[in-house]
Amino acid sequence: MEIFNTEIIKDESGRLTYIELPFNAKEVFDKQKGAIFVIGTINDVPYRNKLISRGGGKQIMTIDKSMQKELDFIGEKMSVHITMAPENNEIENENSLIPSLSVSSIDVVTAIKTRRSIRKFTSEPISESMLNTVLQSGMYAPSAKGKCPCHFVVIQNRDMLMELSESNYNASMLGGAACGIVVCGDKNIEGIKEFIYADCAAAVQNMLLSIHGLGLGGVWCGVRANSDWHKLIVNKLNLPLKVDPFAIIAFGHPDEERVSRELWDASSVHYDIW
Ligand SMILES: Cc1cc2nc3c(=O)[nH]c(=O)nc-3n(C[C@H](O)[C@H](O)[C@H](O)COP(=O)(O)O)c2cc1C
Repeated sequence: MEIFNTEIIKDESGRLTYIELPFNAKEVFDKQKGAIFVIGTINDVPYRNKLISRGGGKQIMTIDKSMQKELDFIGEKMSVHITMAPENNEIENENSLIPSLSVSSIDVVTAIKTRRSIRKFTSEPISESMLNTVLQSGMYAPSAKGKCPCHFVVIQNRDMLMELSESNYNASMLGGAACGIVVCGDKNIEGIKEFIYADCAAAVQNMLLSIHGLGLGGVWCGVRANSDWHKLIVNKLNLPLKVDPFAIIAFGHPDEERVSRELWDASSVHYDIW
């Protein structure tokens, strides 16, 4: 257990509130690879969090809005007393809890070329292993600095799917989908808005390809920032302040066939110079 005093800092953009560790957690916690989860207290308030690497052996830990409130942090530098220990047991448990997964026999280029948006679904439910495979595909997407800021809210409750479908004409297919996955970005993990969008988009496309590869069908439903639908999703799903919904994937067993189109466009390619 490490015990130290430090300051809570708000970065210049005002979007990231964090503490900087006065030691190299990779060395001190003997964890050279992978995410470092830590537990402890800040001024006696307990926390569980993931450290963010800043390069050069430096790590920070973000302080989310609810923790800021508990600490009475008002946006100015604040001295705090920290206890911190690695959450080794939990990490081992998390790894040993990797669920059973499905496989796809379709090659990646064929999957990319034959994927289409599917908006009609049968009533057949999605198996657990297929659902987990889709979720895992989102988790394997590239993300800026490997921060993995995405959260995935799985919706299988019919009333909730209907409510989300009825509140947005463009997402009406959610009402007939076996499942919806709300892909969200964590603003405390990735402070740059454009990177959150890019990271979530990469996750969504990975998941759509996986859905297609598994013989399912799905469609990307965009969630516009600050739209009424965005507000409704935040509200209905009780999303914390740091979590921003980016898209909902509606998917299920397909009840329509859509053919692949030829999308090669030579005019969009520029060699060496425009
Ligand atoms: C950012 C984004 C938002 C989208 N939002 C919706 C949507 O709200 N409703 C919908 O039916 N399709 C939506 N789509 C799917 C597109 O309509 C679809 O990908 C496009 O028409 C091309 O068809 P394809 O996916 O079959 O190749 C969205 C796609 C993207 C990339």
